[in-house]
Amino acid sequence: MENKDSLYAVFDERNRAAEMAGGADRIGKQHAAGKLTARERIELLLDPASFNELDKFVVHRCKDYGMDGARIPGDGVVSGYGRIEGRLVFVYAYDFTVFGGTLSAENARKIMKVQDLALKNGAPVIALNDSGGARIQEGVESLSGYAGIFFRNTMASGVIPQISAILGPCAGGACYSPALTDFIFMVRGYSHMFVTGPDVVKAVTHELVGKEELGGAVTHASVSGVAHFLGDSEKEVILEIRELLSFLPANNMEDAPCVPCRDDIRREVTGLREVIPDDPNIPYDMKEVIVPVVDDGYFFEVMPDFAKNIVIGFARLGGRTVGIVANQPAFLAGVLDIDASDKAARFIRFCDCFNIPLVTFEDVPGFLPGTVQEHNGIIRHGAKVVYAFAEATVPKVTLITRKAYGGAYIVMASKLTGADINLAFPNAEIAVMGAEGAVNILFRNADNEKRAELTEEYRERFANPFRAAELGYIDEVILPEQTRAKLIAALEMAQNKNVSNPPKKHGNMPL
Ligand code: HXC
Repeated sequence: MENKDSLYAVFDERNRAAEMAGGADRIGKQHAAGKLTARERIELLLDPASFNELDKFVVHRCKDYGMDGARIPGDGVVSGYGRIEGRLVFVYAYDFTVFGGTLSAENARKIMKVQDLALKNGAPVIALNDSGGARIQEGVESLSGYAGIFFRNTMASGVIPQISAILGPCAGGACYSPALTDFIFMVRGYSHMFVTGPDVVKAVTHELVGKEELGGAVTHASVSGVAHFLGDSEKEVILEIRELLSFLPANNMEDAPCVPCRDDIRREVTGLREVIPDDPNIPYDMKEVIVPVVDDGYFFEVMPDFAKNIVIGFARLGGRTVGIVANQPAFLAGVLDIDASDKAARFIRFCDCFNIPLVTFEDVPGFLPGTVQEHNGIIRHGAKVVYAFAEATVPKVTLITRKAYGGAYIVMASKLTGADINLAFPNAEIAVMGAEGAVNILFRNADNEKRAELTEEYRERFANPFRAAELGYIDEVILPEQTRAKLIAALEMAQNKNVSNPPKKHGNMPL
């Protein structure tokens, strides 16, 4: 009996040691820096008392540089599984209070264990990053740990959702694990990601740049497009991760959760006629079209600060998750450029991986002209959007709210690139280009009066949806107030869609 009691006491003591991680001082330092500890983060992320920690007593095996006498149970990573809204998830969090949250061979094995379990059991993995990167004392052993993690990130891609939060530093090759995952969250002022930090940048290129400008949250959310979500605090970011997961299935074999829909599926959407200006050259905010149409007017936008000329995000229609892709006439007239193409294509592919139907709101004047775009490869970047829409086998419904011009019309989930249903408002304009541009090319010598007459004639002939509807390229011309009911009807019609692409190892998407 005594023996058993003493073992229980040893267990208690070991548990406490693991939970104290780097010790009270370092925990204090972490808090003073405005950051939570790994355990506090996991507690905030998961449903109460649902966390099951694995490998709590794992220690490193390094003997170099005085590491022999420095072993802390858990070795700087807290990992395991738990529940979010009752659904299984796997999680690992780097613990900055233990050797700066650096990656060792042993804590890499902990991470890989969680990744393997998540893949086998078909549940999302969430990584909470806050780390100095490869543990220098371990050399290649640490590097091989990263390699194993990257390999598993790649194998799990498209099978289970993978989410990364950057809650502190993330430097060097360590950035590539988050980059291989589906969504990256960052915290303003606290998260930093760069392949080489400011000192290396200065030494190599003589460029002087601070870490915030180089790889802070705002930079990655608005300039590089590396981050998908930007929060003002860790708490906000962690709660957003919970919310994101509510839209997603646990794996690629399931459908996203269907929530009871209190919003009438036949509800008329009033006010949409007024949102879209009569003059095709006047901008409007496409979110004012999306929001009143979706369930409860709730749109969960992804990458809101990057390539604002395209809008992407999740919403529900009739209780089911949809991925929304929309041109944004309020920014650069909704033109497609390199960044917008990359943003849309990756999101479309995510939705297709995870059986999430795509709803496209289209108002696009074309691709952005100019040497910057051409020289940086708008051809191959723009091609990604056609590729992504064309290969997607999920239900695809497109609504043309106003302009659908030229190649951009084809690219944005048009009928012949595989969309199931194309709808258009009566004011939609489906043509090779706008009336003025077309007349300028066809009748360049016409005087002003003649030109105005020809423009009007062109507009009557082509700048409407009826020509396309006569030819069956538009399935239905609808009134704005019917939008919600018609989109839901189309999605319900395509709910059991069963198509597959030709067998192949994988396609060769333009990158
Ligand atoms: C070992 C490290 C470490 C590392 C930090 N520490 N980084 N130990 N290997 N890579 C230790 C520090 O010595 C310190 O220990 C503790 O962690 C906290 O670090 P501080 O520097 O005191 O904290 P702070 O001032 O907040 O600065 C954090 C930091 C800085 C910005 C992360 O530590 C830093 O720049 N570290 C090096 C980052 C880096 O270059 N990593 C390698 C990237 S390349 P004590 O005991 O003193 O408290 C890489 C390759 C991956 O990761 C390749 C994959 C393919």
